[in-house]
Amino acid sequence: MAGPASGRGAVEGGPRSTFACLWCGRAWTVRSADDLEGYAQLCPDCLGKAGDNPFLRFRLRSALAARGAAGAAGQSPAESVPSMDRAMVDYYEARAGEYDDWYLRRGRYAHGPIHDAAWNAELDAAGRWLDGLSLRGRIVELAAGTGWWSPLLAGKGELWISDAAEAPLDRARERLLAHGLRAHLHVRDAWAEPEGEPAGALFAGFWLSHVDRDRTEAFLALAARWLAPGGRIALIDSLLDPQSGAADHDPPADDRSVRHLADGRSFEIVKVYRTPDEIEAALRAAGFTDVEVSTTGRFFVLATGVKP
Ligand SMILES: C[S@@+](CC[C@H](N)C(=O)[O-])C[C@H]1O[C@@H](n2cnc3c(N)ncnc32)[C@H](O)[C@@H]1O
Repeated sequence: MAGPASGRGAVEGGPRSTFACLWCGRAWTVRSADDLEGYAQLCPDCLGKAGDNPFLRFRLRSALAARGAAGAAGQSPAESVPSMDRAMVDYYEARAGEYDDWYLRRGRYAHGPIHDAAWNAELDAAGRWLDGLSLRGRIVELAAGTGWWSPLLAGKGELWISDAAEAPLDRARERLLAHGLRAHLHVRDAWAEPEGEPAGALFAGFWLSHVDRDRTEAFLALAARWLAPGGRIALIDSLLDPQSGAADHDPPADDRSVRHLADGRSFEIVKVYRTPDEIEAALRAAGFTDVEVSTTGRFFVLATGVKP
């Protein structure tokens, strides 16, 4: 039976480019020095099972911390991106209990009846757009968070969802259960290499805006690797509108936003507001065909394309 090698609980030293997976023993070579697999010394299959296994979960969390620390240790700006990765996971882990307030316009996310009515109408339009897309077969949802869109997706195919933060994913599980729907759930880095059968569709809600500009190409290439030929990518993301976020949030600057939680904690995260034209160009550059990018008006951008 596969199991952890004894005495290997902590993530010691730096990442390994080549290693034998600590859980299953499989030999693995990372694709880039930044790969979480190298920090965790776990192959992508085992890393993807972190949601179900305390040892694997421990390795994932330690690897995220080690990669974040490596980024914070004074490398070049591009290399320091992982520390922002860690900050984002920490932020969403801490925000899980209040995340849906953003969708539901509750508390600090309420902006009065006029703005909130517009928000609700546009959220509805985004849902109808997603529902109207041809999404079939294995559907992969990256950075699924609390699973706001997951029931809709689970009704269309075999849903496989992941997020690097555990607490939001617990809410996604509850949401799916409440709808009587099933999905495969994984605590997993969205930057990890694809696993399993090529997918018929890949969805990511409000994730592209957490991808720094210099990683756009890498993320869309990764998305394409998840998909089978003919598979569809679908993205919903944020347009910059002062009434989108919490009332106490300052406007973003330099693709960074400072976010506050109800308990007063603050986090700086990557938040890139791409225009529809920028997203369309990026999808085309990544090789997607049948690219369509539209907006709901003020709040959301909707993008789709097909892998040839
Ligand atoms: C804005 S939320 C979007 C959640 C959900 N997709 C939605 O549409 O409501 C961003 C999500 O990205 C997750 N996340 C942040 N960094 C991640 C990473 N490196 N890998 C996977 N998920 C990550 C966060 O935990 C959070 O749940």
